[in-house]
Amino acid sequence: MSLKFDFSNLFEPNISGGLTDEDVKSVEERVTSAVRNFVENTPDFAKLDRSWIDSVKSLEDWIINFDTVVVLGIGGSGLGNLALHYSLRPLNWNEMTREERNGYARVFVVDNVDPDLMSSVLDRIDPKTTLFNVISKSGSTAEVMATYSIARGILEAYGLDPREHMLITTDPEKGFLRKLVKEEGFRSLEVPPGVGGRFSVLTPVGLLSAMAEGIDIDELYEGAKNAFEKSMKENIFENPAAMIALTHYLYLKKGKSISVMMAYSNRMIYLVDWYRQLWAESLGKRYNLRGEEVFTGQTPVKALGATDQHSQIQLYNEGPNDKVITFLRVENFDREIVIPETGRTELSYLARKKLSELLLAEQTGTEEALRENNRPNMRVTFDRLTPYNIGQFFAYYEAATAFMGYLLEINPFDQPGVELGKKITFALMGREGHTYEIKEKSKKVIIE
Ligand code: PA5
Repeated sequence: MSLKFDFSNLFEPNISGGLTDEDVKSVEERVTSAVRNFVENTPDFAKLDRSWIDSVKSLEDWIINFDTVVVLGIGGSGLGNLALHYSLRPLNWNEMTREERNGYARVFVVDNVDPDLMSSVLDRIDPKTTLFNVISKSGSTAEVMATYSIARGILEAYGLDPREHMLITTDPEKGFLRKLVKEEGFRSLEVPPGVGGRFSVLTPVGLLSAMAEGIDIDELYEGAKNAFEKSMKENIFENPAAMIALTHYLYLKKGKSISVMMAYSNRMIYLVDWYRQLWAESLGKRYNLRGEEVFTGQTPVKALGATDQHSQIQLYNEGPNDKVITFLRVENFDREIVIPETGRTELSYLARKKLSELLLAEQTGTEEALRENNRPNMRVTFDRLTPYNIGQFFAYYEAATAFMGYLLEINPFDQPGVELGKKITFALMGREGHTYEIKEKSKKVIIE
């Protein structure tokens, strides 16, 4: 079953001040051009090269020996792994026995250099039965170099051969990690050179750890393939990715500078994190393609239903009308709990109802309240969390991001704005060839 997109609450007359047919007509031609451009110059991420999956599968006999896979990567080299892990494995997967996991691996993702995070993972693994999947497209990201060095040190301290416990996923030619592969004989996978980090979840970057934990990566591919095919349809009413871009672009022009994605499922929260990076890093740009300053982008915000109804929804209903809200909704949960009868009439409205029924009613209620308050919102429905559906989700949002980049006339595939901070960090850490003086502030406001 495919994902279902309901855009109705973005439009007049469902919400007053919503998009009109005229609004749609005003950009339809440009959206169609974006789609045509996607067809004619299909980005590598949408090609879903079969060799990506084959290279991962060629390691299956080796991977199956490990009880645990620890991904060491950050940004696009970690968020997709987290999204796959949480959305397609039970939330307590890493606490299950190997037997309960049908022999598949636990997967941890260390995507930060927070010593508390790394220690908490290291405390829970046995290096003898652990594979560290070091992922970095550039092969030089400081955070990953640090976690790689720590993991390697631990393996060596245990008298283990790092080459038997590390798999390096990086550019086929460039960077320090590729040099390491060539010089020291590590097993490796390739990040396709034409696929940027945040678009790489369906390459060996995301596929290896997914396969290790028993996710059907062929089905994931099938879903993505289907969604990319639909993303190539010129009729925007048959193309969810084009409609996402069209509506979000129009709303951005109308001053809705925030895109909230609110998942009604704890398992989907890292999908939202994945989306947040994609939308933020791809579209937040200072210059357009003509080199003019535009300072564009739409700030993605993450929310979890029903939890954040008790935290953010007040603001969304009554605060500034500057947001477009996307709900993610699952119709059928893998587990179910029926709320028991307590004998109290005050609670009888809950008795014998499924917990998911309450969650779904909360989603519908929130959506309807927002509509009443003329707050634009849309809904993406998953009949179930399956690899096929998750593959579709990744593909639709990758395509929508490309379309949005086209409409905004910016390059969605670079990230110049993160370079300066990286360079300063290198200088502060004493990396050769990097210097930077932190500027003395002429005005100081410090409170202790
Ligand atoms: O999308 C991107 O390009 C970035 O978020 C990268 O994924 C992130 O900076 C990590 O880079 P690398 O894979 O080179 O270590």
